Amino acid sequence: MNLINANKSIAFLIVMVLSVVVLMTIPGCEGPKGPAGADGVDGVNGIDGTDGDISGEACLRCHNDDRLLEKRFELNQHDHATMSNSLSRGGRASCGRCHSHENFVSFWVEDTTYDLTSVTGLTCKSCHTLHDTPIVNNFSFATRVDGDIPFLTGGTETFGTSSPSNLCIACHQPRRDYTYYDSTPTDATDEVSITSSHAGPHYGVAGSLIFGKGADDRNGTIALDQGSMAHAFAGCATCHMGDDRLHTFKPDVDNCVACHSDADDFDMNGIPTKIQNAVHAIELEFVTIGALEDDGEGGFDQTASSSAPTVLSGVEYSAFWNYLVLHSDHGSAYHNPPYVKAIINNVEENLGMTLTTWD
Ligand code: HEC
Ligand code: HEC
Ligand code: HEC
Ligand code: HEC
Ligand code: HEC
Ligand code: HEC
Repeated sequence: MNLINANKSIAFLIVMVLSVVVLMTIPGCEGPKGPAGADGVDGVNGIDGTDGDISGEACLRCHNDDRLLEKRFELNQHDHATMSNSLSRGGRASCGRCHSHENFVSFWVEDTTYDLTSVTGLTCKSCHTLHDTPIVNNFSFATRVDGDIPFLTGGTETFGTSSPSNLCIACHQPRRDYTYYDSTPTDATDEVSITSSHAGPHYGVAGSLIFGKGADDRNGTIALDQGSMAHAFAGCATCHMGDDRLHTFKPDVDNCVACHSDADDFDMNGIPTKIQNAVHAIELEFVTIGALEDDGEGGFDQTASSSAPTVLSGVEYSAFWNYLVLHSDHGSAYHNPPYVKAIINNVEENLGMTLTTWD
């Protein structure tokens, strides 16, 4: 390549670069500007806000109150806070509505899905409506569930409008009745084959026992029609929380004296002890029949399994179901004594045992 050609090439290159730069800075060809559009419609005035007092009273009403700490301390002593025996079931669709905060709220309040799998135990907001409203002054400790409570076994129960105990039976209610295992319930005397080692109404049965419901009344002459008693009018919260609304949910004799003026323990007239002894005798009878076996720890296990069902006569099945009702309510000696006495006598009659006398 000679020098002149090299200079020509450099000059050509400079021209090229400059033209690119110039082209980049010259605006593109556009048409003329159009006419201006019509003015938009005026916006609607905003609604006046309510006076907030976030800084003061509204929040401090609770957040400066010893009660909040006190209730948290009490709740932490109760299984509701941890669901220690049952939280592992809280994320299952058929269990979670009673065994976790998240699924309880989503089932009863939001009425949506209740198979959320990441769950915790109960907290203040499981049972109370606080923080649900944007209106600061509306915050309260009202309970979330009230009125007629639908039961999984059909129908509804209630302690009356505005009773805090309606909340309790949203969870403390049976999951099954006796027809669950007896596929021909209209025939009370035919055989029943049980294949589950966990047969029974489930542990929440206090919520039906207190209203005098849940037993199998098809066999035996002793009628199970005692219905609700004074304890149903009292409601769960009266005995389990008292006037101070204790959040340990532990019954106290002080909560009984309004009606049992001379009570100094729960064993009124020795009746709860008699009930517990009678239930124990019934358990031994079911060991003989083969429906229960000693678990070696002071309790009993059901013997049935899918490969080795427990087959009971109709009369034995009624007795077994009724025993399971008493067993599934850890407070059955207290919740509805007249009904429970009758259930025990009915079981004893159906099993050919000597009947317990109560006075
Ligand atoms: C009716 C009583 C009450 C009022 C009024 C109230 N709170 Fe609460 N708040 C509670 C309770 C109870 C808790 C839960 C405490 C616990 O779990 O131990 C809580 C918890 C909280 C939490 C923790 C997160 C949560 O939601 O659990 C925040 C943040 C909070 N409140 C802010 C406020 C603010 C801000 C206000 C005022 C605008 C307010 N609260 C008014 C009772 C109240
Ligand atoms: C969200 C469902 C739910 C609500 C609402 C509820 N409970 Fe419970 N409760 C449970 C479950 C589940 C357990 C078992 C906890 C565990 O051990 O895992 C339980 C346990 C208990 C226990 C026994 C604790 C122990 O030491 O073994 C008592 C007593 C009790 N609840 C009373 C009440 C009362 C009274 C109310 C109403 C004020 C109430 N519960 C409301 C679900 C609930
Ligand atoms: C209708 C509400 C409800 C449903 C649904 C429910 N449970 Fe429960 N469950 C309870 C209540 C209430 C208790 C506690 C009662 C008590 O302590 O007396 C309990 C207690 C338990 C316990 C503890 C028993 C003990 O001896 O302490 C286990 C385990 C359990 N449930 C498993 C399950 C499983 C598994 C499911 C689902 C297949 C389920 N539950 C569904 C209400 C319910
Ligand atoms: C298992 C349900 C449950 C849980 C969980 C629960 N409460 Fe309650 N609480 C109740 C019931 C039922 C009442 C009685 C309501 C009534 O009398 O109307 C009550 C009453 C109260 C009261 C008294 C209200 C008043 O008007 O005097 C306060 C305060 C309170 N709860 C605070 C709390 C706090 C704080 C937490 C959390 C640390 C909490 N509660 C958790 C069920 C619950
Ligand atoms: C007449 C008072 C009274 C009423 C009303 C009452 N209970 Fe009880 N409950 C008791 C007593 C007393 C015990 C036994 C406590 C003990 O042994 O320490 C008990 C035991 C229990 C237990 C077993 C506790 C444990 O430690 O295993 C549960 C769960 C329970 N009650 C729930 C309820 C529910 C839910 C309601 C309402 C449907 C209710 N109770 C109504 C007095 C009552
Ligand atoms: C609202 C009033 C009321 C309250 C509160 C109450 N009871 Fe009762 N209770 C009664 C009545 C009324 C009877 C008698 C019912 C009957 O025999 O028909 C009774 C009967 C009993 C019985 C059977 C006694 C017998 O001789 O058959 C026991 C046990 C019992 N109560 C325990 C308790 C305990 C424990 C508490 C407190 C934790 C309590 N009650 C709170 C009204 C109450």
